[in-house]
Amino acid sequence: MRAAVLSAFDTPPTYRDHPEPVATGDNEMVVDVLAAGLHHLTRAKANGSHYSSTGTLPLVPGADAVVRDPSGRLRYAALDDTTFGTFAERTVIDIRRSVVLPDGVDPVRIAAAMNPGMSSWVALRRRVEFTAGQRVLVIGATGNAGRMAVQVAKLFGAAHVIAAGRDTARLAPLSALGADETCTFDRIQVAADVDVVLDYVWGEPAATAMIPMLTARADRTAPLTWVQIGSMAGSTAPIPSVALRSARLHIVGSGIGSVPARDIIAELPPLAAAVTDGSIDVRARAVPLAEITQAWNADTDDRIVLVP
Ligand SMILES: NC(=O)c1ccc[n+]([C@@H]2O[C@H](COP(=O)([O-])OP(=O)(O)OC[C@H]3O[C@@H](n4cnc5c(N)ncnc54)[C@H](OP(=O)(O)O)[C@@H]3O)[C@@H](O)[C@H]2O)c1
Repeated sequence: MRAAVLSAFDTPPTYRDHPEPVATGDNEMVVDVLAAGLHHLTRAKANGSHYSSTGTLPLVPGADAVVRDPSGRLRYAALDDTTFGTFAERTVIDIRRSVVLPDGVDPVRIAAAMNPGMSSWVALRRRVEFTAGQRVLVIGATGNAGRMAVQVAKLFGAAHVIAAGRDTARLAPLSALGADETCTFDRIQVAADVDVVLDYVWGEPAATAMIPMLTARADRTAPLTWVQIGSMAGSTAPIPSVALRSARLHIVGSGIGSVPARDIIAELPPLAAAVTDGSIDVRARAVPLAEITQAWNADTDDRIVLVP
């Protein structure tokens, strides 16, 4: 079988022959891979930096995929920590970490959307007491996950969604996707009265945004839940102590581990349906798996999806 194989943490995978996967557990099955997204999670696991990385080489990268099971059904599957990922013609899935997809889905769109889309979907459903009519700030709204977060928040009935980023030009298209307002980090006070922050950036920008936002808040005793989802600007953030005393600020995280796998899996079918019916716009670019070495570090706004 052909697969993308990573032999060192500091060099991209290469496309080559690899032994066939074998199902060993009761809930495992060998499946054909149709489309697998190249997400930040995928790269982080592959370079050994993600908290769920196994640190073992060689490995086949790929954290999730749209697959065809032996009975011919399409499934979306998320893999647990493994050295045998989805960037291959075939892989092994645990059926409990997969959902059957409806007929007619586009495997490339689903493979591109599920990882970035579930970040906000799961956060708003499982990490926050979110109700329709609340106000949401998305920090890092210009990325794949952030632009989907804007759309997911609107889909869930957010009354006002503010899209924040570092580049005015890149923020502009978010209005067409439902953002009621956009702002660069130096104008973050406009988001002072939100109920929820979905933060994909963390690091210095998040820490710097807190005090101007909190001090401009009309009612500082009103709950504000800051959901840490991504860390594009840094894995640590120097949060001022006064931020936690001067307002009713709750900081929580959302991701693998802070939400049980079964809860994440339960949210996948409605997300897949929203992607399929066009409620959520997705940036996807299909690339043959044979081109993995060039695609690995490609500079593109689209989510790359490897197609074996
Ligand atoms: N916890 C979860 O469940 C989960 C799920 C999916 C993704 N994530 C995480 O979410 C993050 C974003 O993922 P993505 O798929 O949206 O990535 P992406 O498409 O590459 O977008 C990256 C975003 O981060 C911004 N950014 C990058 N470096 C920055 C910096 N130094 N300062 C300020 N903004 C910066 C980018 O702004 P520009 O547009 O200006 O470049 C863009 O908005 C990643 O950390 C990813 O691992 C978490």
